[in-house]
Amino acid sequence: MAAKPQSPASNFQSVLQESRRFKPSAAFAKAAHIGSEASYKRLYRESIQTPEKFWGRMAKQELVWFRPFKKVLEWKEPFAKWFVGGKLNLSVNCLDRHLGTPTANKAALIWEGEPAADGKPGEERVFTYRQLHREVCRFANVLKRNGLKPGDRAILYLPMVPEAAIAMLACARVGVIHSVVFGGFSAQSVADRIQDCGAKVVITADGGFRRGGIVPLKKNVDDALAIQDATGALLSRTIEKVIVLRRTGHEVAFNSPRDVWWHEELGSVSSDCPPEKMDSESPLFILYTSGSTGKPKGILHTTAGYLLGAKLTTRYVFDLKDTDVYWCTADVGWVTGHSYVVYGPLANGATSLMYEGAPNWPEPDRFWRIIAKYAVSILYTAPTAIRAFMKWGDQWPAQHDLSSLRLLGSVGEPINPEAWMWYHKVIGKKRCPIVDTWWQTETGSILISPLPGVTSTKPGSATLPFFGILPEVVDDQGRAVPRNTGGKLVIRKPWPSMLRGLWGDAERFKQVYWSELKGSYFTGDGCRQDTDGYFWIVGRIDDVLNVAGHRIGTAEVESALVSHPSVAESAVVGRPDDLKGQALVAFVTLKTGVVAQPRLREELRQHVAKEIGPVAKPDDIRFAESLPKTRSGKIMRRLLKQVAAGAEIKGDTTTLEDLSVLSKLGSAED
Ligand code: PRX
Repeated sequence: MAAKPQSPASNFQSVLQESRRFKPSAAFAKAAHIGSEASYKRLYRESIQTPEKFWGRMAKQELVWFRPFKKVLEWKEPFAKWFVGGKLNLSVNCLDRHLGTPTANKAALIWEGEPAADGKPGEERVFTYRQLHREVCRFANVLKRNGLKPGDRAILYLPMVPEAAIAMLACARVGVIHSVVFGGFSAQSVADRIQDCGAKVVITADGGFRRGGIVPLKKNVDDALAIQDATGALLSRTIEKVIVLRRTGHEVAFNSPRDVWWHEELGSVSSDCPPEKMDSESPLFILYTSGSTGKPKGILHTTAGYLLGAKLTTRYVFDLKDTDVYWCTADVGWVTGHSYVVYGPLANGATSLMYEGAPNWPEPDRFWRIIAKYAVSILYTAPTAIRAFMKWGDQWPAQHDLSSLRLLGSVGEPINPEAWMWYHKVIGKKRCPIVDTWWQTETGSILISPLPGVTSTKPGSATLPFFGILPEVVDDQGRAVPRNTGGKLVIRKPWPSMLRGLWGDAERFKQVYWSELKGSYFTGDGCRQDTDGYFWIVGRIDDVLNVAGHRIGTAEVESALVSHPSVAESAVVGRPDDLKGQALVAFVTLKTGVVAQPRLREELRQHVAKEIGPVAKPDDIRFAESLPKTRSGKIMRRLLKQVAAGAEIKGDTTTLEDLSVLSKLGSAED
């Protein structure tokens, strides 16, 4: 049974004390876009005191407009409209604008494919801005040919190949709203997302390569399109076409005329595709992410504000220069892949590297090999990857020349100081500033991060806010807490790349993000500010877990478990994990007559993989006779967390309905 979200505990005392500080070198600061504290403070002050002046200037300066906007911001809490009345096209801002400049013939995307199982090197493809523009225009014409019109929704379910970026940009060119579904999600997840956004088309591939195997994407789509609801109606009845990219070349079922091949469609289109003139507030994409209740939320981003946020943060946080080879290792299925693989770098005319495979395939030196091969200068990755590299050993990076690196980034979860120090020493050779960037699917772009030429960093802290961002740590009543006291992180002012809503659910949008504290956006994260004003994010305070940098709602996993015929009730909690940050532990009670066999444990894990995707598979399943509940029937997750972590049960158990349950849980392995 999915438990109701509980009131998050705040005012926790943070125990982490970290006194090391790392100042940017004089040489780095001198060459940086923003190189002194005085310039950061001046711009920050302006952005907070006169936000409309600041953002208006930035939007005029940074974006290419068909028609200028009339008003910078219209704010009727919680609904924001930025750059009202303006017309633009995102693909023009990422591609066409570079065509009349020397950037036209620069590499826009460098793609490295997964090496073959026999160790043969992966394919390599490079697209200049001119070539990418051409491919985007051609595929945009394919979308039109297949009946797509501005405002229609397309699901993208693709591997990490250049065509994923091409499809996103092509959607933007013709005003189609894209919703990328991570290739690791299941058929059921695809069907749920199609149903929620009423998509007209799915863009997929026959399959994707992963660690020498094939992820059967097309088969998953076929399965998704066959799923029915309780009344027998198809969840995906809005789908008219499936456009299939040939990637693996293995045989797949093909259902003409619904299914069409990407390469065959290209044969009948021209490479001329005038961009749609989109409103500043036209929806650009929907990206589903986990919340504290069962159903994933369709986070909605619109055009101008999102693009401005992605563009400015990419330039200033990564101190991006024309000569950089920039590599963000995220998959396009996550928001980091949207803002920092595709849109932010391309808007800046940068060279963005994409890698298809896993960091340890065929050997744990993949990243370091790629860095040496392409002389990568900026690397942006996740703490969970960094911890895995630490575990695999220093001999792997030591075999490769990493001297091209000049800046390192981290995202997705709090980075523990030990991992930070390893990244700094072993990868950055103590030369490269580290930017620990805090943000969310909802925020669209980085909100809290060092500026590498300015901010002295402290391992584990995302440090200070970006321009226009006013974060605050508050207690349950919404009062600012004193420095060094834990509380909830809220953002006091609207910002251009903020989410505009949840697709089709304005009520839930208000309730989840804007009901906690009047006038502020509630992040769902716990945080503390130290005496220097630095922000230390401690993680989620709602029922959302961060497993290997991926957001997993415990309620989602619980409802997946309960949908299995043997399960009566379940409660899912996190326990600390050295590699993944958090691991998923599921407590499960079975229906009468079902025997708790070890085989069932694996069956349930597979069931969750089928319902949601392998990312959500519980690491540990414990069968229990019953779950600890309060007298009012609420599952006591606090206790379950302690049990899951193998800790002694502490705290108040007086409201527990049946005390004997607890002692049984510890020994409920089989
Ligand atoms: O808890 C925070 C954590 O990841 C959450 C957002 O997850 P998602 O929407 O999937 O976006 C991930 C990529 C931006 C946040 O609420 N988080 C993200 N970055 C950091 C972080 N926690 C601590 N430090 C970070 N740098």
